[in-house]
Amino acid sequence: MNTFGDTFRVTTWGESHGKALGAVIDGCPSNLPLTENDIQYELNRRRPGYSLFSTPRKEEDEVEILSGIFEGKTTGTPISCIVYNKSQQSKDYTAIKDTPRPGHADLSYQLKYGNYDYRGGGRSSGRTTIGNVIGGAIAKKLIEYTHKIKVIGYTTEIGTIKGDFNYYNNPEFFESDLNIQKLSNQIEDSVLRCPSTNSNEMNEYVFKAIDGKDSVGGVVEVVIYGLPKGIGNPIFNKLEGRLSSAVMSINSIKGFEVGKGFESSRLFGSEMNDEFYFKNGIICPKTNNAGGILGGISTGAPVVIRASIKPTPSISKTQETVNIKTLETVPIKIGGRHDPIIVPRVIPVIESMVSITIADLMISSGFINPSKLSNI
Ligand SMILES: Cc1cc2nc3c(=O)[nH]c(=O)nc-3n(C[C@H](O)[C@H](O)[C@H](O)COP(=O)(O)O)c2cc1C
Repeated sequence: MNTFGDTFRVTTWGESHGKALGAVIDGCPSNLPLTENDIQYELNRRRPGYSLFSTPRKEEDEVEILSGIFEGKTTGTPISCIVYNKSQQSKDYTAIKDTPRPGHADLSYQLKYGNYDYRGGGRSSGRTTIGNVIGGAIAKKLIEYTHKIKVIGYTTEIGTIKGDFNYYNNPEFFESDLNIQKLSNQIEDSVLRCPSTNSNEMNEYVFKAIDGKDSVGGVVEVVIYGLPKGIGNPIFNKLEGRLSSAVMSINSIKGFEVGKGFESSRLFGSEMNDEFYFKNGIICPKTNNAGGILGGISTGAPVVIRASIKPTPSISKTQETVNIKTLETVPIKIGGRHDPIIVPRVIPVIESMVSITIADLMISSGFINPSKLSNI
């Protein structure tokens, strides 16, 4: 299944060591101003090599738009984008041919398809999320352009170290453009994309893992603000249901929460309920434990979700696996160039899947005209 969405549909294609990867976006209304720079900006946030924790693979990930744009605006026809693979080093992987990597998708692909691409995982590689980010960049632009909706993600935990902040439960924080600008700068200035005063402690935690030839994971929080009330439909099309299926489709994501999430089960009702008050003609929650969603429908408060990302499976520490030809138990030590932590690079991918989901729901529920953006 390579297509996501009902009205705003993103099809991703390509493998880690193939000739190219890309995406086709069908259902984007016409008249949206769009350039390669809009997409490149988000791809640069995802690509490796931008921080001291990221693999030294020099991936340019330069995007070319092949169709769907005329005179700088979308035409309403499929938008097709391509990124050529330029940095593959397939020989890095020949030593692990026939020995599925623990924690990666090699074994399950072998069992289902009778083969797997040992040169980095092929379709199961994190590189395929280039397609998600292409679709996400367009969706982000669409929802921001039409409704000033912003989607912003940051790291809240690395391994066992928790960040020392709590933005999400203060709906008023996201009413100030200045707060948001400051937060965005803090996020992008931090190697782990963590706007926390103890982010150095997190850096140390990662360095320790690197010394032990190991890897670490973390938790990312994403806030959607400016989302109108009324997005999402009860029962089988609940907003959190759609968001979780989008976010959980990303490789390496193992948990999903809305608002207080798992912690809500440990609270009393009186602690969990967000009391209402009347402000500037609207009924608002005082707190945001619900994460901006009640009954599957957005309330107008910032929508807050969280995703947990497991440690990068490919590690240079020796582990055991089974040779699929000889069935012998053998040691495996992964060469190649892998991030000891992928959390900061997964943030733009989560933001992308969230933006695609919001664009899709807004088009299908009439908040955005499916064929053309008017008055533009
Ligand atoms: C942006 C991104 C980059 C990734 N980079 C790597 C990597 O360098 N090495 C690796 O072993 N796994 C990497 N992964 C994780 C694997 O793709 C993932 O763990 C694998 O496909 C198995 O899927 P699962 O973890 O969802 O079960 C990356 C994932 C993402 C989303």
